[in-house]
Amino acid sequence: MTGSTVRFGTGATREVGFDFADRGVKRVLVVVDPHVRDAYPGQTATESLRTAGVDFEVFDEVRCEPTDTSFQKAIEAATAGGFDGYLAVGGGSTIDTAKAANLYATWPAPFREYVNPTLGRGTTPPGPLKPLIAVPTTAGTGSETTAVAVFDFEEEGVKTGIANRYLRPTLGILDPENTRTTPPAVAASAGLDVLSHALESYTARHFLRREKPENPSLRTAYQGANPISDVWAIESLRIVAQFLPRVFADADDDEARGMMLLGASYAGMGFGNAGVHLPHAMAYPVAGLVRDYRPPGFLTDHAMVPHGTSVIVHTPAVCRWTAPSAPRKHLLAAEALGAEIRGVPEEKAGELLAERVRHFMTLTEQPSGIGDFGYSAADIPKLVEGTLVQARLLKLAPHDVDAEILANLFADSLS
Ligand SMILES: NC(=O)c1ccc[n+]([C@@H]2O[C@H](COP(=O)([O-])OP(=O)(O)OC[C@H]3O[C@@H](n4cnc5c(N)ncnc54)[C@H](O)[C@@H]3O)[C@@H](O)[C@H]2O)c1
Ligand SMILES: [Fe+2]
Repeated sequence: MTGSTVRFGTGATREVGFDFADRGVKRVLVVVDPHVRDAYPGQTATESLRTAGVDFEVFDEVRCEPTDTSFQKAIEAATAGGFDGYLAVGGGSTIDTAKAANLYATWPAPFREYVNPTLGRGTTPPGPLKPLIAVPTTAGTGSETTAVAVFDFEEEGVKTGIANRYLRPTLGILDPENTRTTPPAVAASAGLDVLSHALESYTARHFLRREKPENPSLRTAYQGANPISDVWAIESLRIVAQFLPRVFADADDDEARGMMLLGASYAGMGFGNAGVHLPHAMAYPVAGLVRDYRPPGFLTDHAMVPHGTSVIVHTPAVCRWTAPSAPRKHLLAAEALGAEIRGVPEEKAGELLAERVRHFMTLTEQPSGIGDFGYSAADIPKLVEGTLVQARLLKLAPHDVDAEILANLFADSLS
């Protein structure tokens, strides 16, 4: 279990300048989401750098749902600037962009070198990166606590990631003021991402059922469900159940915004060690192959499926399929999401949990399935193909997976 360092509190963003100065950092690349650059998050963070006498440059060409091309732009800015620290202010898209910029500027390599197999070589860089402080403005991906950066690999038509232990941010700053302006549609998608992170890591293949690596350097960040990540996951589910409906209804609910930021980080600490499995693996081709879906409530200029939405549409079908692997845990997860489980037989665990997930999807006005993004049964073979390349995630499903199982799960997720 690798720990993550976070600081929580209203106004905590004002301390980032101190944090860089304290680490002896002189010159910072601020990677900031264009929609928060001139609002509280961006303004407060840069003001804090100024006050602490830390030199910085701002990069705001972050793409919502980043691609290899958009990562490359940030890598170029990072490589040209001679930075000895990085500050990310934004949602998962921004934090992941800053992670990639830091990685390739610190240890230059051809792009595929660090990309996860099977699409890349999955090499671990030779040593640590420069300090990265992550200030999330969504609640959220938990990227401030995890050792992974996700992007859409355009030529492959699929999302994938870069994962190695050096990518984990040095510090995450959880400031509830930073999510006050998060649009409700973004809060919904991001909040359901939290729900699925927690659920997937809680129901992942048990770590004792995973193979021991040939040598310790080959041990992956994602280790399967384990007693420590379970603590974070189950508490995160309780938080989402209580506070996601409240932030969706009222962005000025200070307590709910703070709790959802914590819930996102809790889930990140859990899944950052245990891993996620099929809902994420299936979401990657669904997001990568999207044709013309434009999500309501998002201020983006390109077709895309928001990450949390692309994940959650698969979660009900997947939990019905995973339930027989650990029925008791599926019941406990349903209970954490607000279900009454007394007297419910174990055979009903999957259905009960799926029903709870659907409850939160309906409440946050989500699409009902991948059919809403324009996919039909005819697209399933291509989606299966794009899922089978996510080797790292498929290994974490509690049962073995093949093309036929995936095709059935996609069919179940059409609506
Ligand atoms: N690295 C990880 O561990 C990890 C985990 C899960 C997801 N992800 C990735 O993170 C990305 C999704 O991140 P996200 O869900 O945080 O959303 P996001 O970063 O893509 O932001 C979504 C939209 O909300 C806007 N926005 C964000 N914060 C705002 C605020 N405070 N006020 C106003 N507008 C705001 C952005 O400009 C953008 O248009 C995906 O690419 C996903 O694959 C990474
Ligand atoms: Fe996610």
